[in-house]
Amino acid sequence: MTSKPVKPLLEIQNLDVTLKNRDSYFKALDDLSFNVLPGEILGLVGESGAGKSMTGSAILGLIEPPLFISKGKIIFKGKRIEENAISVRGSMISMIFQDPLVSLNPLRKIGDQLVETIRTHINIDKAEAITYAKNLLEEVGIDRERFNAYPHTFSGGMRQRVVIALALAPNPSLIIADEPTSALDVSVQALILALLKRLCKERGTSIILITHDMGVIAETTDRVAVLYSGRLSEIGKTSEVLNSPKHPYTQGLIAATPRIDADSLKTKLYQIPGTMPDLSEIPDGCPFHQRCSKSIPKCSENNPPLLYDRASCWLLEKESV
Ligand SMILES: Nc1ncnc2c1ncn2[C@@H]1O[C@H](COP(=O)(O)OP(=O)(O)O)[C@@H](O)[C@H]1O
Ligand SMILES: [Mg+2]
Repeated sequence: MTSKPVKPLLEIQNLDVTLKNRDSYFKALDDLSFNVLPGEILGLVGESGAGKSMTGSAILGLIEPPLFISKGKIIFKGKRIEENAISVRGSMISMIFQDPLVSLNPLRKIGDQLVETIRTHINIDKAEAITYAKNLLEEVGIDRERFNAYPHTFSGGMRQRVVIALALAPNPSLIIADEPTSALDVSVQALILALLKRLCKERGTSIILITHDMGVIAETTDRVAVLYSGRLSEIGKTSEVLNSPKHPYTQGLIAATPRIDADSLKTKLYQIPGTMPDLSEIPDGCPFHQRCSKSIPKCSENNPPLLYDRASCWLLEKESV
């Protein structure tokens, strides 16, 4: 017996985002395709400049000149997003940024900000919204008595908890969290990620978790998509990708992640040689081939497609995955 395939919440299909610079055109996202299933946490990982935030902006309908969507589709709940970007923003899709102060108004009490967000999206009266807001504060681990406090009276971690409450307030189907804990201490980071994960799993909310940190991917996500120069390098279940990475870029990212054990403390941490190229300097062929220790002649000639639904690397042709 085969079970019915789950309908994706979000589908990104062959998406290109192009940057127009005078008379030149550069691809910031190149033929990007992936899905997000209901209730899952999908990680988007890659070095700075990989196109992670651009992907989030495209989903939110926030691509603006000199950038434009030059190919492909984004489908949310079966509807193309370009058609309903306004209604999608902030209600069915919420956003969490790295810096909580981007989302919080420093001049207004956190309770007022929560109540306003709730009443923008949900048709309830003020008294009900206040109760709802206080309950949300409690759920994210903040005393409901702090309802009338201003953002500056909170620590960074507590502020990010308020931002999570704001993101959850409209009861979204999807939260895009762009480096939500990169500005926090490691110990606080783990607590915030665990909180976000628990609350979303309880509600069945999907998350796209954007991070440069493979440790965060390992702790938090169900599946992971690895981006490089705006292209999908590898995608799969997090446990499979981390235990058996197929793309040399993924292998490099994992090897470059600090571990705290006796053996790794004795050895110097691996670094992938070189840096991610600027958009104007992406080479022909596989965009990673100049930094790849395993590249073969074909890698500089042709850009590999996603093979076996897993990795965009010509080496997979030789391997049965
Ligand atoms: N407004 C913009 N104008 C020109 N180039 C941009 C703009 N925003 C992003 N880029 C470029 O697009 C690429 C992807 O950026 P981004 O998605 O922000 O990367 P990251 O993976 O670090 O989030 C980078 O090369 C970046 O320099
Ligand atoms: Mg970014």
